[in-house]
Amino acid sequence: MVGKLLDGKNFSAQIREKVSLQVKKLIENEGVTPGLAVILVGEDPASQVYVKSKGKQTVEVGMNSYEYRLDKNTSEKELLTLIKKLNNDKNVHGILCQLPLPDHLNSDLVINAISPHKDVDGFHISNVGLLGTGQKAMVPCTPLGCLLMLREEIGDMSGKNAIIIGRSNIVGKPMAHLLIKENCTVTVAHSRTKKIQKLCSTADILIAAVGRPELIKEDWVKEGATVIDVGINRIEQDLNINPKGYKIVGDVDFEGVKKRAGAITPVPGGIGPMTIACLLSNTLVACCRANNLQEPKGLTA
Ligand code: GUN
Repeated sequence: MVGKLLDGKNFSAQIREKVSLQVKKLIENEGVTPGLAVILVGEDPASQVYVKSKGKQTVEVGMNSYEYRLDKNTSEKELLTLIKKLNNDKNVHGILCQLPLPDHLNSDLVINAISPHKDVDGFHISNVGLLGTGQKAMVPCTPLGCLLMLREEIGDMSGKNAIIIGRSNIVGKPMAHLLIKENCTVTVAHSRTKKIQKLCSTADILIAAVGRPELIKEDWVKEGATVIDVGINRIEQDLNINPKGYKIVGDVDFEGVKKRAGAITPVPGGIGPMTIACLLSNTLVACCRANNLQEPKGLTA
């Protein structure tokens, strides 16, 4: 069997199209334009690329984008003052502070200073608690993207065996809560898990979010499983093979695993594009909630 390719480029474009339509309606019917503020502290090259892409896509769906690029030596006090200003700005419905922050800044303190209603990353402790107790929350964008893709592919996930590799606060833990809510039997595996290969081979749904290039091989995967690869790893390549000198691979050995999986996300072009699409849909949701308007259907957990 050769697994079906789960095309995140195409699916994320459909989500952005839905968001764009809803934004147009909000502007026309309510006179409200959703706004997303993105804060970047310092010059981390990967973060600069992400922030640029977030701003561009925000504008493309008709929302207002507010970008704050702060010096790497910005003090905690200055950053907290900016967040307080954005919390009180009624034109801003979503606030995101790009991580990682420089070492002298306390990420937990900064994230928890963002109003939970504007926390479109879903990282605020209130949103973490709401999600963990099965209540309405702002949901982190990457796991939300995985969930929407799984719903599209599988539909009812009730009773499925879901195994998540990786226990991060950004992906692994929120993903577990989302899949418990879908009535899956969920196991979170990590670097200390024993017999991880055998465990993975019992998964109907396998989610890899561990940051280890091509760790998951063909013989780790059950025939027909749905495999979601969240990994984005840069590996060196000979300049004679690839003029860039590197290539991007996931946590899954795609060429091997696709022979056994029922469906599989590629890297790049799988979950990556879903993350920003979900950031836009979270901003739309935050705007609807702030204005007591009906939330869009099919874009939330
Ligand atoms: N850095 C890498 N991924 C993310 C994300 O999803 N949100 C934020 N704020 N920073 C990140």
